[in-house]
Amino acid sequence: MAEKLVVIGQGYVGLPLAIRACEQGFEVVGFDTDETRIKRLLHGESFVEDVLDSRLGTALASGRYRPTPDAADLAEFDVAVISVPTPLRDGAPDLSYIEDAARALAAHLRPGSCVVLESTTYPGTTEELVGPILEERSGLVAGKGFHLGYSPERIDPGNATWTFETTPKVVSGVSPTCLARITEFYGQLVERTVPVRSPKEAELTKLLENTFRHVNIALVNELAMFANDLGIDVWDAIDAASTKPFGYMRFTPGPGVGGHCLPIDPSYLSWRVRRSLGHTFRFVELANDVNDHMPDYVVRRAVAMLNDRELSVKGRRILLLGLAYKKNTGDDRESPSRPIARQLAARGATVVAIDPHVDPEHSHAGVPLVELTAAELASADLVIALVDHDAFDLDLVQRHAVQILDTRRQLGGPNVEHL
Ligand SMILES: NC(=O)c1ccc[n+]([C@@H]2O[C@H](COP(=O)([O-])OP(=O)(O)OC[C@H]3O[C@@H](n4cnc5c(N)ncnc54)[C@H](O)[C@@H]3O)[C@@H](O)[C@H]2O)c1
Repeated sequence: MAEKLVVIGQGYVGLPLAIRACEQGFEVVGFDTDETRIKRLLHGESFVEDVLDSRLGTALASGRYRPTPDAADLAEFDVAVISVPTPLRDGAPDLSYIEDAARALAAHLRPGSCVVLESTTYPGTTEELVGPILEERSGLVAGKGFHLGYSPERIDPGNATWTFETTPKVVSGVSPTCLARITEFYGQLVERTVPVRSPKEAELTKLLENTFRHVNIALVNELAMFANDLGIDVWDAIDAASTKPFGYMRFTPGPGVGGHCLPIDPSYLSWRVRRSLGHTFRFVELANDVNDHMPDYVVRRAVAMLNDRELSVKGRRILLLGLAYKKNTGDDRESPSRPIARQLAARGATVVAIDPHVDPEHSHAGVPLVELTAAELASADLVIALVDHDAFDLDLVQRHAVQILDTRRQLGGPNVEHL
């Protein structure tokens, strides 16, 4: 008989996992407390780019994928994966969603069941938070009565090369038996598993990866600001440095970091370091500071460009090309486009945006979305290119925009300034 997998949270992480497991023969319950999300899934509507509606439809038609808001459907699970949000509240980790998920699972835990946490969190969460909740409510002991471990999600929305299946999956367990069970589970879903010593190392792996990216982006962002003031083309230098075949990794400047990972995950690590050791994680603090201020810098540059044409921001029409936090995705959570739009609007500009990936009903930017047409481009006093979606017709932009501030260096010409 097929194993029963329950996936707690059917978002950007949980949905692709649930569908992949269904395709691999598991009976999958996709549990989510958001009833609207569940209704959409039941209608075959996916909001995650990496899961096409057709794939979702096939999974639903197989009868082996069941989205549900009802916790009773968790009963008799063999494996449970927790992929719920881990936001920051006033700078501190909010683990209440994980706690709720663990409580819901504890009621259905049986000897031999397996629980894996995938949500990004600080080292220690699996053993110090999830384990005790499961133990207390079930009367079973982690590592003896049931399996428990952590496996970070590395999903890169919109990346066609490195998908859920092809990206190596780091796995861990609270005991060697748990590790073996969890490795065996993920071995059925991905091409390669990477076992590590304990959940703490697996939790740190995820935070190391994201902190590394965050810090390096901050480095090139700060360099971009200085280079501009010094009259040096930072992009040229980055291109040249990228030809070094060893010891260098390419990162490029941008309008700031967004999404659910980079603006948040490194702070989980610095919070843990401060709380447990009393130290400040200086790299994280510095990177937060630089990256958080990039939207202000973009606005300053926009103001300066208009000023050069003897135009005030007030009364100007400014078109944001892209709202999402990254290329080829529709996710605009924590996107730098939001503070940029807000600041420009506060100065009296009329701000509109073009983003074919962003669903207007679920956009967080609070900006009217318009179509990419010659007339829209020509009617804007300034276009700020924030995202390098492949879907953008850059020729059209180049031909019809009056002036462009390009934060991704996709465009060139006399009417273009780069970040
Ligand atoms: N999005 C990414 O690219 C990405 C990549 C790697 C890791 N992560 C991490 O994975 C975790 C989930 O992120 P996401 O982007 O999938 O979030 P998301 O907001 O897209 O999805 C989470 C879902 O969990 C549901 N939920 C919340 N509490 C619940 C509960 N108690 N029971 C059932 N469902 C519940 C929400 O309604 C939501 O639909 C976070 O810790 C995030 O940091 C995200």
